[in-house]
Amino acid sequence: MSIPEEKRNNDSDKAPGIEGANVPGSIGKLIPVYVMGKRYEVPETLTIMKAMEYAGFKFIRGCGCRGGICGACATVYRKAGDYRLRVGLACQTVVEPNMYLTQIPFYPANRATCDFSELTSNPEEIFKLYPELFRCIACNLCTKACPMDVEVMDYISALKQGNITKAAELSFNCIQCGLCASRCMGELPQYHIAQLARRIYGSKIVPRAEHLSEATAASTGGRYEAYLEALMKMGEEELRKVYQEREMEPEIAAEDWVPNDNRYL
Ligand code: FES
Repeated sequence: MSIPEEKRNNDSDKAPGIEGANVPGSIGKLIPVYVMGKRYEVPETLTIMKAMEYAGFKFIRGCGCRGGICGACATVYRKAGDYRLRVGLACQTVVEPNMYLTQIPFYPANRATCDFSELTSNPEEIFKLYPELFRCIACNLCTKACPMDVEVMDYISALKQGNITKAAELSFNCIQCGLCASRCMGELPQYHIAQLARRIYGSKIVPRAEHLSEATAASTGGRYEAYLEALMKMGEEELRKVYQEREMEPEIAAEDWVPNDNRYL
């Protein structure tokens, strides 16, 4: 949740915008929005997140990356005169006049507990952990709610058919904001189910990367120790020189590109 510090939007204290503070006239037109039912005037160019900060709210939860990736800023809103509840990410959605906003930085969806090491890639195990999977009525509200354009209903359908690989691939862009679950008529926790599918896919279905095993063995076998020790004995200037003169992979490199100095490959 965010904590209001109602220091702005007082007639006597019109603060500069978050964007362009100290740049007179840069905040643009002010429009009314309602946060938890209270009216604030905010610059029309701001995202919901910046507008709330402009209005005096301080985010101590419900705000992470500010770039549409972490899923911490799920927001529910309605526009005046419109019956429809809408959802979005506060850091990505620009305010509109007379928006009624509330934040749901945590959605209380069920998350099954299990000993992951004992799971296999048998989809029956997901069915047992999340029997609500079969309450899906394919209304597609989850897909419509997704701010990342993930085909939520499709990955749920794939899982119902036992196709963990397809579910993992379709849900790859999920940011765990929970908005799908917030609109689900069947009360599924889609994002938790998909996360389990991706974990199973990554650890029990995808073949092990051989090059990674080789690199791990080389590392734990002490192959880089001498080089690391030499680096640790260098002074700042020498380290800087080594770093600046390192051989870099060209921007367009063939798949079989290898550096000239391949002692540590
Ligand atoms: S703050 Fe990370 S998605 Fe909005």
